[in-house]
Amino acid sequence: MTQERLASSAHATGPLAGRVIVLGITGSIAAYKAAGLASTLTQMGAEVHVILTEAATRFVTPLTFQALTHRPVHTDLWAPDPATGVPHIELAERAEVLVVAPATAATIARLAQGLAEDFLTCVALATQAPLVVAPAMDGGMFEHPATQANLAVLRSRGALVVEPEVGHLASGLTGRGRLAAEERIIAAIRQVLGRRGPLAGVRVVVTAGGTREPIDPVRFIGNRSSGKMGYALAEAARDRGAEVTLITAPTALPAPEGVHVVQVERAREMQRAVIEACANADVLLMAAAVADYRPAEEAPQKIKKTGQELTIRLVENPDILKELPRGRLKVKAGFAAESEDLLANAARKLEAKDLDLIVANDITAPDSGFGTDTNTVTLLFRDGRQVPLPNLPKREVAERILDAVQELLQR
Ligand code: C5P
Repeated sequence: MTQERLASSAHATGPLAGRVIVLGITGSIAAYKAAGLASTLTQMGAEVHVILTEAATRFVTPLTFQALTHRPVHTDLWAPDPATGVPHIELAERAEVLVVAPATAATIARLAQGLAEDFLTCVALATQAPLVVAPAMDGGMFEHPATQANLAVLRSRGALVVEPEVGHLASGLTGRGRLAAEERIIAAIRQVLGRRGPLAGVRVVVTAGGTREPIDPVRFIGNRSSGKMGYALAEAARDRGAEVTLITAPTALPAPEGVHVVQVERAREMQRAVIEACANADVLLMAAAVADYRPAEEAPQKIKKTGQELTIRLVENPDILKELPRGRLKVKAGFAAESEDLLANAARKLEAKDLDLIVANDITAPDSGFGTDTNTVTLLFRDGRQVPLPNLPKREVAERILDAVQELLQR
C-alpha cells in the first residue's frame, strides 16, 4: 500500500489552500473537539497555527495539535523564540482569520475588554484579521447578561459569533452551551475569509428544494429534489462575499450560516418571495424544482377513502423564471433537469425563459441529479457556448457555476 504525504502548505490543495488560520483554543472541555477542527482545516489545505491558553492545556496537549497541523503550537507568551522574533506579532500580521473555538466565558470577556494577558489575547489585540468566536460553556454562563453583553461588544466590532447549540452539557445539565458543530464553524470561517471575495457587494438570490402543492391538510404533490444543489450554490456564493438570499422549499438540510433564508412551500409562495428578493438583486440562480401543476382545490379536511376512484384536477402553476421581469437582474440562470434530449431541451428553455445561463442536468446519468452528492452538468450560455463539466461534488459544480456567473457579471 502506498501513502501520499500531506502536501506542505506551499503546494497545499483544497478549498482553503494556503489560507492562514490562527486557531485559539481555550479551557473548555470542548477543547477536545478542536482537534477535529484543526485536522479538518489542515486537510482542507489551510495553514493552521494553534494557540492554546494555559487553561486549554489542562484538557488537551500541544503535541496533539502539533501532530495534526504539522506546526509548532503556541502556549506561552514568554517562551524564548529560537528565531528571535516576536511570535505573537508575527502571527497577528500573518493571520487571515482568528478563530477562537471553543471560546470560554473568560476568554470572551478578555476579548471584549481588550485585555492582553496571554499569547491568544495578545494576538487578538494585535491582529487586523476578522474574528470568529465559537462559545462553549455551561448554559447558565452563556445566558448570563455579562457573557451576552461581551458577545454583543464583539459582534459590534465585526466578530462573527457561531452560536452554541442546545443539548447535553458536560455538567450533566441540558442547555445552550454546546460548541457548534464543526461544519458550522468551518462555514463561518469560509464566509469570513470570503468577505472581500470576487462577489463582494453582489446580491444573489438562490432557490432550492422541491415545492409542495397541497392536496389536503396531510398530502401534497412533491418531487425528488433534495435541495443540495441550491444549498451548495448559496454557500459557495456566500464564501465569495455575496449577500445571499436562499428561498427554499422544505428540505432535510440545515439552514446555511450567514445566508438570509426564506422558507416557502408552494410554487406561488416561491414566486412571491422571488419577485420580492429580485427587486433588489443582481443574480438569480433558480435551482428549485418547481411543481408545474397544483391541485385546483385544496380539500379543507383530510380526504377519506370511499372505495371509488379519486380524481384530482390539476391546474398549471406560474412559470416563475419565465414570468419574472429582468428588472435590475444582471444574471438570470435556470436549471434544466432532463431525462431525454438534454442539450436541445435546455437550449430551448434558455431561450424561452430569457436566461443568460442554464445548467443542464441529465437526471438519468449515474451519480447525477436528485438526492445525489455529485452532479454531471453542462453549462449553456446565451451565445450558444456549451461547457460540459465532469462528474463533480455539488459544491464543486456550484463553484464552476459561480465562475460562469462572475464572467457574465464582468460583461
Ligand atoms: O421548464 P422547466 O421546469 O424544466 O424549467 C426549469 C427551470 O425553470 C428551473 O430553473 C426551474 O427552477 C424553473 N421553473 C420555474 N417555474 C416553474 C417551473 C420551473 O421557475 N413553474
